[in-house]
Amino acid sequence: MAAHQCSLLLGLLILVSSLAWTEPVEAASFNRSSFPAGFIFGTASASYQYEGAAKEGGRGPSIWDTFSHKYPERITDGSNGDVANDFYHHYKEDVHTMKELGLDAFRFSISWSRVLPRGKLSGGVNKEGISFYNNLINELLSKGLQPYVTIFHWDLPQALEDKYGGFLSPHIIDDFRDFAELCFKEFGDRVKYWITLNEPWTYSNGGYDQGTLAPGRCSKWVNGACTAGNSAIEPYLVGHHLLLSHAAAVKVYKDKYQASQKGKIGITLVSHWMVPYSDQKVDKKAAIRALDFMFGWFMNPLTYGDYPYSMRTLVGPRLPKFTPKQSILVKGSFDFLGLNYYTANYAANVPVANTVNVSYATDSLANLTTQRNGIPIGPTTGSSWLSVYPSGIRSLLLYVKRKYNNPLIYITENGISEVNNNTLTLKEALKDPQRIDYYYRHLLFLRLAIKDGVNVKGYFAWSLLDNYEWNSGYTVRFGIVFVDYDNDLKRYPKHSAIWFKKFLL
Ligand SMILES: *[C@@H]1O[C@H](CO)[C@@H](O)[C@H](O)[C@H]1NC(C)=O
Ligand SMILES: *[C@@H]1O[C@H](CO)[C@@H](O)[C@H](O)[C@H]1NC(C)=O
Ligand SMILES: *[C@@H]1O[C@H](CO)[C@@H](O)[C@H](O)[C@H]1NC(C)=O
Ligand SMILES: *[C@@H]1O[C@H](CO)[C@@H](O)[C@H](O)[C@H]1NC(C)=O
Repeated sequence: MAAHQCSLLLGLLILVSSLAWTEPVEAASFNRSSFPAGFIFGTASASYQYEGAAKEGGRGPSIWDTFSHKYPERITDGSNGDVANDFYHHYKEDVHTMKELGLDAFRFSISWSRVLPRGKLSGGVNKEGISFYNNLINELLSKGLQPYVTIFHWDLPQALEDKYGGFLSPHIIDDFRDFAELCFKEFGDRVKYWITLNEPWTYSNGGYDQGTLAPGRCSKWVNGACTAGNSAIEPYLVGHHLLLSHAAAVKVYKDKYQASQKGKIGITLVSHWMVPYSDQKVDKKAAIRALDFMFGWFMNPLTYGDYPYSMRTLVGPRLPKFTPKQSILVKGSFDFLGLNYYTANYAANVPVANTVNVSYATDSLANLTTQRNGIPIGPTTGSSWLSVYPSGIRSLLLYVKRKYNNPLIYITENGISEVNNNTLTLKEALKDPQRIDYYYRHLLFLRLAIKDGVNVKGYFAWSLLDNYEWNSGYTVRFGIVFVDYDNDLKRYPKHSAIWFKKFLL
């Protein structure tokens, strides 16, 4: 899941909804059978947010260990993922819960530094790490759940950050390809759905423009906490190397593994839906530019082999160029698109470029906000960046179908947080009508999009369990299952889990 903060939102911190919520919606006439036959329902997760066991089983450190331990003041509650929800030790119980709820699939990521503690093949493969993922995959399959595996979900081995600056360097491409190939070799006999990267936008934006996510680099004027970085240059360089790494991994899979293993490979991108701030033409254009800068940045090269026109003209020489060979490699390098959708923003035109303070966020000349004249774009949640805007999932899907040649899509994340409120009793904490309402409404709009002809084959809720929400630490809860962090990490289904169970019957 992403901590998609933009600078305008940083000051807002936690907004608690004052809006009244409707009663939980009865699932009787809307359920799994409302979706096409074979449609997949799952939940999604990420290694650093779930596993814990940070120093166990031979795992090497990642940039998230470094960021959270070195700069606890940059995490809302000063916490880290050393323990998280301890999925590493609880995975059997959690897979059992998935089965109980009637889920078809589980999306998880492989911790690169758990299988390659030094990041590179030459640094040695950690057999204990391989065993953990073998056990997890086998447990899922034995319960009839399909593994959807993300190869990289932001927890880069610290060794590669130290050696050459991680994704700032083109050296990452070979190391990522080797890591991906190790995954295909070890797990590809049983894993049939591969996702190379999770949300390259968030990795570039959070890690190199805003400085809010590991490795926490940015221009000083953007965020005083950053000790190094350049928000005008680095996000684009990192985005470029992410795309080239993705394409290299897909090429290995297609050349050497796909024919025998018969799996599919794709990438997960995130986008907000962008609503023009007004009916004025300039704001409508700003909304399109905002989509280009968040989604087209990656989707345009993946579909057409180059960055969007708006980015090429507005970013100019700071935007890396694809060589003709690279362009061909990136273009069409996916069997499916994973799409993460959470929320919508207003986009307003910025009439004059700021030539003093230049960054990824200012380049688009689109001012993104979550409210207009003090009125939020949708009901607020535990996360300042996440206002509820269900119709946006349909709008975004129709936009992708129209603009990017109707790709095969899986919704790989969609979900909502509440504040982690320690004063609530357990019974109170399990009542999550806002989450039920959120899922119900998004699934209704998803079904409409499918009826409109968008080719969506599956849906993953974020998330099964409460977990470590990056720089928000444990201050928000995204699970349909509650984790009691104060009492042995015991798990309790929230009302939304019961709702899903009925929905999936
Ligand atoms: C699921 O919904 C359909 C209508 O779409 C309804 O006929 C069926 O009874 C529902 N199933 C359950 C188990 O509620
Ligand atoms: C640039 O950013 C700094 C730090 O936030 C601010 O003090 C200054 O006013 C900004 N300058 C312009 C022209 O926006
Ligand atoms: C963005 O919008 C906010 C709220 O409408 C406003 O306060 C701010 O000045 C705008 N920023 C730019 C760069 O236009
Ligand atoms: C936490 O729960 C208490 C008790 O219901 C409530 O009064 C308080 O407003 C809640 N705090 C937040 C931040 O939601």
